[in-house]
Amino acid sequence: MPTALITGASRGLGRAAAHALARRGWSLVVDARRAADLTGAMRGLAGVVAIPGDVTDPGHRARLAEAAGGRLDVLVNNASRLGPSPQPPLASYPLDELGRVYDTNVFAPLALIQLLAAPLTAAAGTIVNISSDAATEAYPGWGGYGSAKAALDQLTAVLAAEQPSLRCYAFDPGDMRTDMHQQAFPGEDISDRPEPEAVVPALLRLLDGRPPSGRYRASDLTAPAVAP
Ligand SMILES: NC(=O)c1ccc[n+]([C@@H]2O[C@H](COP(=O)([O-])OP(=O)(O)OC[C@H]3O[C@@H](n4cnc5c(N)ncnc54)[C@H](OP(=O)(O)O)[C@@H]3O)[C@@H](O)[C@H]2O)c1
Repeated sequence: MPTALITGASRGLGRAAAHALARRGWSLVVDARRAADLTGAMRGLAGVVAIPGDVTDPGHRARLAEAAGGRLDVLVNNASRLGPSPQPPLASYPLDELGRVYDTNVFAPLALIQLLAAPLTAAAGTIVNISSDAATEAYPGWGGYGSAKAALDQLTAVLAAEQPSLRCYAFDPGDMRTDMHQQAFPGEDISDRPEPEAVVPALLRLLDGRPPSGRYRASDLTAPAVAP
């Protein structure tokens, strides 16, 4: 059975993706910073190695890579940092916090890709870097998180050009009813946003169909095919 490493699997999209792949019988390596939440989220699933820790910690990343072993089919860089809430305009964005956003959303995913390049190549594997519409749209207040996701998109595009034996995707899930979304819209009612489970079919379509490397929106992958 294939193996996937999913970061940030204790809730939201990471948890939903982990459950879907575990139900298919995949072996999983997963993480999140809060150990108890991670253990609770993975309860009842078989074939899961849960390693609590922070993706920005090189020692933790090394433990994830060790657990993945010599062959890895899929890496999902999902763990992410929004930054301050409410999000400040760039003119007053605290640069130390911007650094932490980039550490989590750009440097940690690339560091994991570097560590896992050999096992991913051994499997002719797939890298999924979870992006956002904030990477391509200029929403006021989203300059920190959005520019980090834009950097992640560009890393993904260059990796695709450099690693033709791999599939390298930037995957934009669209709005989801999650803790991060609530953090981005403090005090707002976000109950009209879809649950993260609603996005999983699009992610599975990407993994199953293995279209050419590139940037994909969940809404495009779930939309019915247009008749010629
Ligand atoms: N929600 C949306 O509307 C939306 C829209 C577009 C894109 N996205 C993207 O979708 C992905 C999933 O977001 P989500 O809304 O599902 O987030 P979420 O519900 O807040 O879950 C985030 C997960 O990542 C973990 N995590 C956060 N920082 C981490 C770190 N430094 N190291 C290890 N694990 C960490 C969290 O657990 P701990 O806190 O315990 O570490 C949690 O398991 C993210 O890449 C996000 O940018 C979300």
